[in-house]
Amino acid sequence: MALQASFLPSALSAHKEGKTVAKDSVFLGAPLSDHLKSDFSPLLLRTKRANVSIGVRAQTTATAAPSVNRSAPEGKKTLRKGNVVITGASSGLGLATAKALAETGKWNVIMACRDFLKAEKAAKSAGMPKDNYSIMHLDLASLDSVRQFVSNLKRSGLPLDVLVCNAAVYQPTASEPSYTADGFEMSVGVNHLGHFLLARLLLDELKESDHPSPRLIIVGSITGNTNTLAGNVPPKANLGDMRGLAAGLNDTSGSTMIDGGKFDGAKAYKDSKVCNMLMMQEFHRRYHEETGITFASLYPGCIATTGLFREHIPLFRLLFPPFQKYITKGFVSEEDAGKRLAQVVSDPSLTKSGVYWSWNKNSASFENQLSQEASDAGKARKVWELSEKLVGLA
Ligand SMILES: NC(=O)c1ccc[n+]([C@@H]2O[C@H](COP(=O)([O-])OP(=O)(O)OC[C@H]3O[C@@H](n4cnc5c(N)ncnc54)[C@H](OP(=O)(O)O)[C@@H]3O)[C@@H](O)[C@H]2O)c1
Repeated sequence: MALQASFLPSALSAHKEGKTVAKDSVFLGAPLSDHLKSDFSPLLLRTKRANVSIGVRAQTTATAAPSVNRSAPEGKKTLRKGNVVITGASSGLGLATAKALAETGKWNVIMACRDFLKAEKAAKSAGMPKDNYSIMHLDLASLDSVRQFVSNLKRSGLPLDVLVCNAAVYQPTASEPSYTADGFEMSVGVNHLGHFLLARLLLDELKESDHPSPRLIIVGSITGNTNTLAGNVPPKANLGDMRGLAAGLNDTSGSTMIDGGKFDGAKAYKDSKVCNMLMMQEFHRRYHEETGITFASLYPGCIATTGLFREHIPLFRLLFPPFQKYITKGFVSEEDAGKRLAQVVSDPSLTKSGVYWSWNKNSASFENQLSQEASDAGKARKVWELSEKLVGLA
């Protein structure tokens, strides 16, 4: 059963969006084939554009997905909610951002998560309004899963207005590398390569958005920027000549590290964040003028309490939050960090493209400077081209 296999346990739980506006965009209770009836509740989404129908098992309320109006003339605002996909929305920054946006009532948040049940539980316990979010399965450690997610999203008929590449893994204490399904070192494989493929495959969807301000946001980090104190804590980010990336980012073909060096989990994370920030700028250079899409990155502050540090030693996890709160004063709560990222998603004053946003002590946003390496256009082009080969786009 192809559709069932592509959804974990129901890859898209549709929640009520309000009145159906586009006359033929959504049909409830349309007849399903007997084959589908056994597995899905009688909810059918049909889009004029794609001319496809998919069954959707209702999670909480069996109601229609947002109305679709892709043919709005340029400049005309649609009345529907914006649709934003957030990867890794099952915890930390992603969850807080999903909640902040869902609570405005102006956004339908598609939580793109590897663990469907965890995401559903997290959304419920965060008290997210159920009409304003849905969950779809996405495992960034598998390029097949990324492609399947893109295919599911397209078939759902939901227009895409904003994509937030937020998910990440951080393995600072790993003595040995672990690998994605495609054999790439895990941190760069998930944080950079999985997101790179996702963003590339969804670019056409963003181009078609009739939202006033379509955006692609890739979460960065201070730790990848060696022009900061935090970025100078060893091991420092350094992509070198990228011989490891060129050779496939695994032991058998060369090295698990982008620069070809010995595996180091903390450095792999920082390198992946440099790739994230470089890719945001490369997207901007290649597509902003032609498409009007806003490409942005950000450092949300040190959210010392998130699951990102789950693999760190217990003493670190105990001391890191008070250290950030009282010594460096760089600490930001998950809730406040979520509001910051939500601002980058939706604030009409943050439409400038190619920007790496940060916040000052008064929580005011400003355009921050990236390190020399994280703003190197030559390196960005090389990461783009090598990554295209690894994910099968070239
Ligand atoms: N925490 C900080 O101080 C800080 C500072 C600067 C930047 N950031 C950035 O903020 C972003 C979010 O991090 P966080 O602090 O919120 O950490 P977190 O709580 O650990 O969240 C990471 C999210 O990524 C998901 N994820 C991990 N591997 C995945 C995969 N293979 N496929 C799909 N999703 C996957 C996790 O899913 P599960 O729930 O299933 O594990 C989780 O939802 C990251 O990009 C990080 O680099 C964080």
